[in-house]
Amino acid sequence: MSSPGAAWRLPAADPDAAKACCAAGYGTDAVALLLGPSYHPGGAELTRRLARALGLGPGSRVLDVASGPGTTALLLAREFGCTVTGIDLGTRQVGQATAAAASEGLDRLVRFTVADAEDLPFEDASFDAVVCECAFCTFPDKAGAAAEFVRVLAPGGKAGITDVTVHGGRLPEPLGGMAAWIACIADARSRQDYAQLLSAAGLAVERTEDHSGAVSRMLEVIEARLAVLAMTAPGTLAAAGIERAAVRPYTRAVRAEIDAGTIGYALITARKPSP
Ligand SMILES: C[S@@+](CC[C@H](N)C(=O)[O-])C[C@H]1O[C@@H](n2cnc3c(N)ncnc32)[C@H](O)[C@@H]1O
Repeated sequence: MSSPGAAWRLPAADPDAAKACCAAGYGTDAVALLLGPSYHPGGAELTRRLARALGLGPGSRVLDVASGPGTTALLLAREFGCTVTGIDLGTRQVGQATAAAASEGLDRLVRFTVADAEDLPFEDASFDAVVCECAFCTFPDKAGAAAEFVRVLAPGGKAGITDVTVHGGRLPEPLGGMAAWIACIADARSRQDYAQLLSAAGLAVERTEDHSGAVSRMLEVIEARLAVLAMTAPGTLAAAGIERAAVRPYTRAVRAEIDAGTIGYALITARKPSP
């Protein structure tokens, strides 16, 4: 990211363009290099915790909304025996996730398709659980996405999100200029606001947990990856359009907000009431 970069220029005033920009940004080599296989704080451990909180097991029909490279969906199939449908707006992510499922021999249990979280192409009541990791914060129409979660859940089914939180209102001004690069936090809300959005859509919130340490550890991993790549593979960094010196001010600014308690991470689960 020599600057936040063209793929990350977030046209906030146009929701469709904002979604397309986010999907394109997360499909870049730069993101794959810096984030590794899992695109959310907490990685596999937090996904396992979410799965246990949702009571997932063999035969559970799960929708993974904004499945990215497919890491969450594949874990739920591999370790919990779930049947998983992953959707993502990014064609590149869907292609990568589909290839990963095939190479692991999990394509019998998991499939991926291009779709918009705010307009899910599924029948009412067709899933036992909806999971959404580190993506709800990016949806311009959060209430619309929450309503879609409720619609596709069977009665008694559960939704679980893990997501970036921003407490104390909007991000402070120093981060305003980098809102595009950090699309994940540009429209993130507080843990209470996410719970309120799910409950306004008709879900009964069952659990809210603070996992802010996970976002701090993820930033450490990004900084370490950058340092190692700068020393061992500068050509790879350059080919992905990443300039370490240009990225450092952004990671520092995010670190300051994490330390101040403004930016964090949360896990929330909620149940669709049975009639
Ligand atoms: C931070 S990544 C998280 C990916 C995955 N859930 C994970 O935890 O590894 C966010 C993903 O959300 C996807 N996304 C953003 N807006 C979307 C939308 N409206 N519908 C579907 N996917 C969307 C992006 O393409 C990207 O792959």
